[in-house]
Amino acid sequence: MPKNGARSVAKNPEPRTRRPEPSAQNLAPRTLLITGGAGFIGSNFIRYVLDSHKDWSVVNFDKLTYAGNLENLRDVENDSRYTFLKGDIADRAVVGAALSEHKPQCIVNFAAESHVDRSILDASPFIEANIRGTQVLLEAARAHPVDRFLQISTDEVYGALGATGVFTEESPLLPNSPYSASKAAAELLCRAYWKTYGIPVVITRSSNNYGPYQFPEKLIPLMIGNALRGEELPVYGAGKQVRDWIFVEDNCRGIERALLAGQLGEAYNIAGSHEMCNLDVVEAILRILRGLTGPTTKLPGVKFISDPRGAAHDFRYSLTTSKARADLAWEPFTSFEEGLTRTVTWYMGHREWVNAIVSGEYRAYYKMMYGESDTHSMPEKT
Ligand code: NAD
Ligand code: TYD
Repeated sequence: MPKNGARSVAKNPEPRTRRPEPSAQNLAPRTLLITGGAGFIGSNFIRYVLDSHKDWSVVNFDKLTYAGNLENLRDVENDSRYTFLKGDIADRAVVGAALSEHKPQCIVNFAAESHVDRSILDASPFIEANIRGTQVLLEAARAHPVDRFLQISTDEVYGALGATGVFTEESPLLPNSPYSASKAAAELLCRAYWKTYGIPVVITRSSNNYGPYQFPEKLIPLMIGNALRGEELPVYGAGKQVRDWIFVEDNCRGIERALLAGQLGEAYNIAGSHEMCNLDVVEAILRILRGLTGPTTKLPGVKFISDPRGAAHDFRYSLTTSKARADLAWEPFTSFEEGLTRTVTWYMGHREWVNAIVSGEYRAYYKMMYGESDTHSMPEKT
């Protein structure tokens, strides 16, 4: 029996038979308040929404922490349907003012401290932003009613699996890191506000995202950046942990579907159903880079480092997505090979974006996490 009481089922289970087409008929958002929209997934979601729904407008409410970057949205900043508000979701007054001024029909809450390693170094910002911030938003939605409150959660709330098993939406929440505990707490608050006050909450729990604009503290962009700079590739432990990877655009469509067709009070797993161990991911990046830059390019090697997560390092995540496939008519479209090639190509073409980040706060963080190896700008060409 796998840990956590997770059901052991075959990978990529057959979709359920009930398959209603999602439609905007029962929900016609005109204005979305998107929190954390200057981060990785939020900025991809804003771009996706503005492209796909010409009659929707977006208010991006973001504190601009180290992970928030308005460069991620340069191409939409002059769109008349886009507004940026700098603010903290844990700040009642500012959140209340934003809702009362813009009167959104939907809140999509991406805003969070999102990196497991940072949560192990200091849990406090995670409690403040992820738990208290979510509660402030929920309270604001009581005072300024909305049609949907979409909470962006994570597969990490389920805790870890061993080599077999898969998490369903009914699996217990057994988080192991301060990050995942704060996300689980936020979800439970959402559930409680649905049950107690009828706040129209829907939750998505997605697996590991990758794609353009991801902050280079996470595995895939960190490895791409290091490889392009000729720096060693720091793999924790033996690199055997398994993650289920989803290309960010597929998650954005899943979030859109959950917004339009999700049942109130329900949670939906959203995953690429593509499991890989970390070492294989790093090797895939190197193979794609070699293909793009030529076989003679010198690329750095893997450096196995002592695992900074210790016992809190979740071994494996795996999600069944049959509920989202059946009830939201959603499925991922992008193969890992295609998504990773697009991602590597994007980072190669956006060296200035990366260089601006690695010259800032990131530099001190990197030194503290990985030791003396210094980060420097990417060369113009590899
Ligand atoms: P990110 O770290 O790239 O971006 C987070 C954004 O939230 C930043 O723009 C930051 O400035 C903003 N923010 C942080 N605290 C805030 C606050 N108190 N008030 C307002 N804004 C604040 O994160 P991401 O990878 O884009 O993740 C977005 C959401 O998706 C998070 O809730 C995360 O838990 C969840 N998630 C991420 C992944 C993943 O693989 N990246 C997987 C599953 C779920
Ligand atoms: P990460 O991208 O931080 O996502 P998460 O912890 O939320 O799954 O890490 C993905 C995996 O990669 C995780 O098992 C830790 C591992 N990892 C490394 O081996 N080296 C690194 O430098 C980083 C950042 C992560």
